[in-house]
This record gives sequence, C-alpha cells and structure tokens, in this order.
Amino acid sequence: MAAPPTGTRPRVVLGVAGGIAAYKACELLRRLTESGHDVTVVPTAAALEFVGAPTWAALSGKPVSTSVWDEVHQVPHVRIGQSADLVVVAPATADLLAKAAHGLADDLLTNTLLTARCPVVFAPAMHTEMWEHPATQANVATLRSRGVLVIEPAEGRLTGKDTGKGRLPEPDQILDVCVGVLARGGAAVPHDLAGRQVVVSAGGTREYLDPVRFLGNRSSGLQGYALARTAHARGAQVTLIAANVALPDPAGVKVVHVGTTAELRTEVLAAAAAADAVVMAAAPADFRPAEVSDAKIKKADDGSAPQLGLVQNPDILKELSHHRPRADAVIVGFAAETGDATGSVRELAAAKLARKGCDLLVVNDVSAGAVFGSPDNEAVILSAEGDATDVPRGSKAAVADAIWDRVVRRFAG
Ligand code: CTP
Repeated sequence: MAAPPTGTRPRVVLGVAGGIAAYKACELLRRLTESGHDVTVVPTAAALEFVGAPTWAALSGKPVSTSVWDEVHQVPHVRIGQSADLVVVAPATADLLAKAAHGLADDLLTNTLLTARCPVVFAPAMHTEMWEHPATQANVATLRSRGVLVIEPAEGRLTGKDTGKGRLPEPDQILDVCVGVLARGGAAVPHDLAGRQVVVSAGGTREYLDPVRFLGNRSSGLQGYALARTAHARGAQVTLIAANVALPDPAGVKVVHVGTTAELRTEVLAAAAAADAVVMAAAPADFRPAEVSDAKIKKADDGSAPQLGLVQNPDILKELSHHRPRADAVIVGFAAETGDATGSVRELAAAKLARKGCDLLVVNDVSAGAVFGSPDNEAVILSAEGDATDVPRGSKAAVADAIWDRVVRRFAG
C-alpha cells in the first residue's frame, strides 16, 4: 500500500544519540516510515560514529545534519522541533538525558528538544551502572515530571559480555509507544494503572506426545505482549506468563516462560493471588495426550500409526472466574468465534462469557480469516452485565489500550 502524501503523515523527529544501540534505531526508522510517518532523523555527532549519515539519509529519504550550522538560512534548530508532531530519541544515552534534563543545547538534537512543543519520548540505552546512577535517575525523574515519556530500558545482554538493565527496548515496542502517543493526540499516556498489579497470559501451549512432538496452536503472542507493554506504560506492575512465544521480553515486565497448559495454570494461579486484573490472552490447548512417552515414538514397519488418547486440560479462565483468588479482581477472557447454525458470533460469545464466568470477554470474529500473527486486530468487548464496546480495527497496541480502558472503568465501579 502506498504511503499517504508527506503533508498528511504525522511528522516524527527521530533523535539518535551516541550509543551502540544506534544500529537498532535503523530498524525503528524503517518501521516508522513503513507505517506511514514522515521521519526526520537528527543524530548526534557521536551517533554518526556508530551509524553513518548516508544510512540515515537513505532510510529516511531526507538529508541528515547534526549541527545548527548547516542550512542556517532555514533556521533548522527551531524549525525541526516546532514542526514535529512527535520527537522520539532512541537510543537516549546518559549524556543526552542529562543535557535534556538541564536544557543544554550544543547541537541540533538538543536544540530541537528545547524548541519542540509536541510529545517527547526517550528510549534509553546504556550500561546498568550508568542507568542506576543517582545522577541519571534524577535526570529521568526531572524529565518525567515535565510530562516527557521515558521508556524503561530492557534487561538482557549489553555491549560486551555483561547482562543487566539498560538494553534499548525492541524497535516494535518503541514504535507501539510512539503510535499510542500520536493516537492520543499527543496527550500523555494515562497513568491509570499505577499501583495496580496485572497478570497477562500470552501465546499457545504445547502438549508433548514424546520428547520431540507436541500438539500446539498458531497463537503468536502478539496481542498478549501488546497488553503487557501497554499496561506497563500505564503504570501497572505486570507479570506476563508467556507460552512458547518467539518475541523479545517487553522491557519493565516480569516474564515467566511456560510450555504446557498445566504449567500455564500453575503460574497464572500463583500470580493471580495478588492481581487486580488477569487477562487470559493465551490460547491454552484444550486437550493433551493421555500418555506422554519418555522416548521418541518409533514408526511401525507395518504402516500402522499409534492411536492417540486425549484428555481434557483444565480450563484456567473458568477456574479463575469461579474460584476467585481476589473477589475484587477483574477477570478478562478472549474468544475467537465464527458464527454457526446455533447462533451469531455475538450470541455464541455471550454464551461463552456466561459459561466461563469472567467479567469481560474480548471477542474476535474470525469468520473472515484468522488474526494469528497479524499486527492488527479488531474486537468487541462484552461485559458480564451485557454491554458491548466495539474496538475498531487498529494495531494490537490500540486494541490492548481499549481493553485496559474497559478494565479501568470496571475498577472505578
Ligand atoms: N482458556 C483457558 N483454559 C483453557 C482453554 C481456554 O483459560 N484450557 C481461556 C483462553 O485463554 C481464553 C478463553 O478461555 O481467554 C477462551 O478460550 P476458547 O478456547 O475460545 O474457549 P473454549 O471454552 O475452548 O471454547 P470452545 O468451546 O469454543 O472451544
């Protein structure tokens, strides 16, 4: 699909500071332009030590400058910031955060940050010691107190052999945040889940027949991961129980990896004990082999196939809803439905909500094709009281935000 003309596209300034994670900003730039944003890259001189100007110019389709002394007649140090709809700095180094917090302006990017009146997002990346240093933490607190969105860095492998907190969040996660900020018309991300503990399950469980074979399903985990990221951005303490998901762990989220429905049940029930909300976005296998072979099942020479006996798995959502660990917790289920002779999608979903006993049910109509692995989604959120909220087609992050909006409404009674 062709991108809309430049004038109608949201104008994003991508600031890049001098950290090794600058290479990941190339991917963010590509995602931003592919998703219809008009991007101007403003790297620092140090950033160009890691990724050269030709790369930024080729990927953005625009000239790139680090200095206020280029094209002075166009007053770039004022124009770029003033005309932006969003400024995102990725990676934001400790030095850049310090400059931004103190209003220093010695290059094009720091000037742009002072002249911008649009929302600003920082995605920090640095070594753990630098991130945890009281100076950096104070600078981050100052920026946040001014309404700037500083994403929490991810944990994992850093430059060299060490690991810890300080990795640049994945480009998709930064993109989600940017799209969310733009969708809210620049309004700050609501911190309406602050002080809340939420549990999200994601992915599809696998039920092993033997050490190498399993029964599974096609759930990608994208919607569950988007729920975890958006809840974290809205201030919640998030536990994500992930079943066989091949996505990077979201920054700032406690992730517990599981394989089978039994493991998913154990972890969800344990985490649910203290949770204000549990969202079951995972697709647990409903059945598992009655017997699991310790050794790989061999083919018989006579051409016969083994007969598989199956037993039903526990229904985690139903158990949670009927034996609530906390009476005031909001329990949310998902349902992928196609209408059939017995009822429409809405009727079948309402019956499922009643059967499961949850408070909210997010219903995907999959008659026209599956949503598995797609970056987009659309849904209807049904409540136990019988009302329905339509969520129009949009990114899985936007659908996640609509689900949290509905959960927050329920918290408010
Ligand atoms: N679910 C669960 N435990 C299971 C199966 C499903 O907690 N063993 C949850 C899913 O996470 C989802 C919801 O139940 O939130 C709906 O799952 P679905 O498979 O559509 O429900 P079923 O009861 O299996 O419905 P159907 O009879 O249509 O298969």
